[in-house]
Amino acid sequence: MTQPTNFKTSDPGAFIRANTQLHEPPLIPEVKLHLASEIVPIWQMTEEELQENGLPPPFWAFAWAGGQALSRYILDHPEVVRGKRVLDFGSGSGLIGIAAMKAGAESVLAADIDSFAAASIRLNAEVNDVSVLVTTENIIGSANQGWDVILIGDMCYERPLAESIEIWVRSLVAEGATAFIGDPGRTYLPKSGLEKIISYAVMTTRELEDTDVRNTSVWKII
Ligand SMILES: C[S@@+](CC[C@H](N)C(=O)[O-])C[C@H]1O[C@@H](n2cnc3c(N)ncnc32)[C@H](O)[C@@H]1O
Repeated sequence: MTQPTNFKTSDPGAFIRANTQLHEPPLIPEVKLHLASEIVPIWQMTEEELQENGLPPPFWAFAWAGGQALSRYILDHPEVVRGKRVLDFGSGSGLIGIAAMKAGAESVLAADIDSFAAASIRLNAEVNDVSVLVTTENIIGSANQGWDVILIGDMCYERPLAESIEIWVRSLVAEGATAFIGDPGRTYLPKSGLEKIISYAVMTTRELEDTDVRNTSVWKII
């Protein structure tokens, strides 16, 4: 098992470059991301640093099943985002936002409150030769900043977070935005008010998901 390389948390970009490798997510071979090759070391590493520096877990180091499914859908149905202003909410690695730009979005704002995720999104956008705006502001509850399409990948893993996102995004949908969720059936996926668009079998790892494949769906908020 490779031991992760420690870096001062003041330089997330250096940490990411030292502790990840460029990989293509199984469902999205057209995108390369800085991802963890082994899950345990990087997770333990950031847990140790978490105690010292208050860092969140490295969600940005993985292409989550929900994000892969939503990205696949967008790349195969580019009309959903073509010429549109897109919000990739809870962006993590930036996968969905990068996919949206590749599919012809006018612009993408990738929002993630983790500064390591922000660094990862910037590095990954550069590798894929697309331009993505990044914010670490917590924008839940904010007014629509001009987004036509809101994309949410794998964010239904904690009840308070999932509930506050649902209330906020439904209010934006009521005002005219379109919103999609990619989700492998996490506990706090809303039970109603969603239309299933498509499902994919997403290859994952037992370390992360306790299974090799997760059936993952793309839902439209209605
Ligand atoms: C499971 S990851 C999903 C990442 C990516 N969408 C994907 O599918 O691969 C969840 C992400 O949500 C981010 N997050 C959590 N709370 C957030 C908030 N209030 N605003 C923005 N991002 C948030 C985390 O930092 C993490 O990167």
